[in-house]
Amino acid sequence: MDDKILNIFRSSNGEFISGEEISEKLKITRAAVWKHIEQLRKEGYEITGEPHVGYRLTGTPDKLIPEEISHGLGTKIIGKKIYSYETTDSTMDVAHKLALSGSPDGTVVFSESQTKGRGRMGRHWVSPKGKGIYFSPILRPDVAPAEAPKITLMSAVAVALTIRKVTHLGALIKWPNDIMINDRKACGILTEMSAEVNTVNYIVLGIGINVNTDKEHLPREATSLKAEAGESFSRVELTQELLREFERQYLIFREKGFKRIIEEWKDLSHTLGEEVKIACHGRKIEGTAVDLDTSGALVVRMDNGFTEHVTAGDVIMVR
Ligand code: BTN
Repeated sequence: MDDKILNIFRSSNGEFISGEEISEKLKITRAAVWKHIEQLRKEGYEITGEPHVGYRLTGTPDKLIPEEISHGLGTKIIGKKIYSYETTDSTMDVAHKLALSGSPDGTVVFSESQTKGRGRMGRHWVSPKGKGIYFSPILRPDVAPAEAPKITLMSAVAVALTIRKVTHLGALIKWPNDIMINDRKACGILTEMSAEVNTVNYIVLGIGINVNTDKEHLPREATSLKAEAGESFSRVELTQELLREFERQYLIFREKGFKRIIEEWKDLSHTLGEEVKIACHGRKIEGTAVDLDTSGALVVRMDNGFTEHVTAGDVIMVR
């Protein structure tokens, strides 16, 4: 019902609309209209009421709730189903449960804050309330488990392109999937999956973007969009653009394969051409990052002239 009332306000283009008109349109009592309006106000909607005139929507909350994200979204797969929470342990855990109970491809789970936000390699992901975008898409691509890292690279491309479009900041991708701005990390991406030997049952991605987070709340090596641009951004707008870009990249991946995404990734790379040190399965690989191969592995030319295709690890830039 709240959704229906919002639609009425939105289609009245900022004009006043009387309580009577709303009650007639929705076939509910005037008292019920008033109750719903109070509820919307509690959620952060600014609704002006004028005696004998009616109500008018004057402001919407920058909250990652289905009513705001879905409004004008226009995607077909990603974000068709949206779950949102004020707080959770981790959107990853919620998404795994939903995936196991059959939630469809493209379902997304948002939380305004996380008490146990997790990063790669068992690290903690700082998730202060209302400051960042913390979400987990559930994907069900028809691919073999070995292809899953490609989905991570695809997500990094979608995030970097979105940040560039909305903020005009020079977001780049540090292999495999950190989004860097001015050499500091502004976003991290995590991939978890459930798979059989030959098929992926589902993939849960975790995307954490530091949007309006103040520097003092972030680890030293991290940054936020606000810290870099000197202004705050609408999380709803960023999220909508991201879901649209994500869908574009996902469709390219499904219909045209990974080649195009590799090209995009290379154009956005923070790592290629750099001297790197990578800790990978207990080994240290040192050399120059020269390429991304067709499977998404980083090609490193070592000082002894040999090249190594690295599939996992943490990159340290040697500068
Ligand atoms: C990393 O760079 O280590 C990956 C960080 C991923 C953080 C996101 S925030 C939303 C989702 N829920 C989590 O608990 N983690 C991911």
